Amino acid sequence: MLLEAAGIQKVFGKLTALDGAALSVGENEFHGLIGPNGSGKSTLMKCIAGAEVPTQGKVSFVNTDITAFTPTERARAGMSLKFQITSVLPSLTLYDNILLALQAQSSLVDLLFSRTRDALHEQVMTMLTQFRLADRAFEAAAALSHGQQQWLEIAMALAGKPKLLLLDEPTGGMSLEERRVTGELLQPIKQHCSLVIVEHDLDFIRDICDRLTVLDQGKVLASGTVSEIQANKAVQEIYLRRA
Ligand SMILES: Nc1ncnc2c1ncn2[C@@H]1O[C@H](COP(=O)(O)OP(=O)(O)OP(=O)(O)O)[C@@H](O)[C@H]1O
Ligand SMILES: [Mg+2]
Repeated sequence: MLLEAAGIQKVFGKLTALDGAALSVGENEFHGLIGPNGSGKSTLMKCIAGAEVPTQGKVSFVNTDITAFTPTERARAGMSLKFQITSVLPSLTLYDNILLALQAQSSLVDLLFSRTRDALHEQVMTMLTQFRLADRAFEAAAALSHGQQQWLEIAMALAGKPKLLLLDEPTGGMSLEERRVTGELLQPIKQHCSLVIVEHDLDFIRDICDRLTVLDQGKVLASGTVSEIQANKAVQEIYLRRA
């Protein structure tokens, strides 16, 4: 397993947001994290990324116990989180936003050599092309549509060539067409990266994910392949309860 979170408990004052939750993700796996509002999805993502410290539990990543790692140490180990708060600098061009994200990953020694600058140019343009933004490379990021800004942020989150990308509701506020394109844009990263994605749009998640974990009141209700989860009676019930 690439990622293994087990027995995760998170208590906020009197509220138990996570009560022994677990999540296992293999290499090159797209894993969907679903469940009703307030079931603990975002809190679990934060505990994995290190943005929240679990009250109890253990997180392993690439066969290393990272429970005590800072978010920066987790990023260095190959984990990348696209925050709900935007990391795009709106007055800079798309090109410079990606360049900054790439430079943040390069060593100072690398940056001193101009040949690295050429290599970085190639990488910036490759990433912009991959996310269908190359024709807007030299426009300010502020000019992008909401969906395009999300794609730029996903591209930036991939700049450090992570082994695991964590996305919390990346399609929030997107049009139907933008959602469809987001699914297409994510597919190719599977060759080198696993994904944990939180989404309320079940059609979207069914289309792109290999496995799903369903949270309910801070506990795992079910975990398995998309068809196993679809056939699960307890899962059907919580979604009916919500409808
Ligand atoms: N920093 C915090 N302080 C106190 N309570 C919190 C904090 N963060 C989350 N909670 C609570 O923990 C529970 C789980 O919240 P969380 O945001 O993880 O749910 P979620 O599954 O992501 O919900 P949604 O689908 O609405 O995004 C909720 O009851 C929430 O109010
Ligand atoms: Mg949430």
